[in-house]
Amino acid sequence: MSEAPVLPTATYAVTGATGHLGRLAVDALLRHGVPARNVFALVRDTAKADELAALGVGVREADYDRPETLEPALEGIERLLLVSSPTVGDRVTQHGNVIRAADAADVGFVVYTSVLHADETELALAPEHAGTEDLLQASGLPFAVARNGWYVENYTGRLDEYLERGEIVGASGDGRVSAATRADYAEAAVSLLTGDIADQQGYWELGGPAFSMSELADAITETTGTKVVYRDVSPDEFTDILRGAGMDEDTARFVTSLELSIARGELETDSPALENLLGRAPTSLVDAIRAARV
Ligand SMILES: NC(=O)c1ccc[n+]([C@@H]2O[C@H](COP(=O)([O-])OP(=O)(O)OC[C@H]3O[C@@H](n4cnc5c(N)ncnc54)[C@H](OP(=O)(O)O)[C@@H]3O)[C@@H](O)[C@H]2O)c1
Repeated sequence: MSEAPVLPTATYAVTGATGHLGRLAVDALLRHGVPARNVFALVRDTAKADELAALGVGVREADYDRPETLEPALEGIERLLLVSSPTVGDRVTQHGNVIRAADAADVGFVVYTSVLHADETELALAPEHAGTEDLLQASGLPFAVARNGWYVENYTGRLDEYLERGEIVGASGDGRVSAATRADYAEAAVSLLTGDIADQQGYWELGGPAFSMSELADAITETTGTKVVYRDVSPDEFTDILRGAGMDEDTARFVTSLELSIARGELETDSPALENLLGRAPTSLVDAIRAARV
């Protein structure tokens, strides 16, 4: 992580703290030297938060769909990491609820996890992120937007399936993805959150070293010793394959559209911002594959 000034006396909150990214961000805050008493894990369901509580951090209920939980959860918080909601379709409303509560609670700095090129891409997921960015801008709150690329775990999480089939099937052609691990994105978000606000405000395009699906297949082959190839199919064929695997029509078309975004280069960036925020190279694809094999 870069040498951002640590503000031990500031109070920090992380939403979605029972999720993968949120939990990693809580861990990164503690590793960064913020005392546990200054860290608040905001969770939808406090019953799932025993592990967080065991870290000594404060646990508060904060449900994006229940505005009445949000302002109390943000009371006394100076810096907030707003982890984007997984509920596609509801997110602008949900995030708007959090932003309004942050404003009412006088939060001094908000870091929001968006998506690469949110304001200039055809990626189907982007409009909700761009809409949230607009709300932040309109709120007048100091903010930074971490425009995260794809998680490398989107692929390493399917490693067993790729190895079993000996192939990765997609419709992204030679398109490349600047993916990084969730842990790296979490650390970068914490670097933004704990830094000098004047330096961190604005939009950060974050991604790791880019790879195509053929390069992913090669990296898996090289790392595991099991031959895996990439098989590129037409968008219609890809949709049919997804439907055949039990996916409903709308979701299959949505997932196919993500492949086409990759083919158009919309999930790629050559921005050095992730490396700069981490103060080191992001975790390599090969290391991420190795870690997923353990
Ligand atoms: N860049 C990528 O490749 C990529 C991939 C997938 C997702 N994402 C985005 O990145 C976000 C974080 O990723 P992740 O892997 O940490 O996702 P995750 O593990 O699914 O975590 C999502 C978190 O959001 C919480 N949540 C859901 N609905 C909520 C609500 N109404 N109010 C408050 N919290 C709510 C969940 O709470 P519970 O624990 O109670 O369910 C969970 O803690 C996702 O939500 C999504 O927006 C990005």
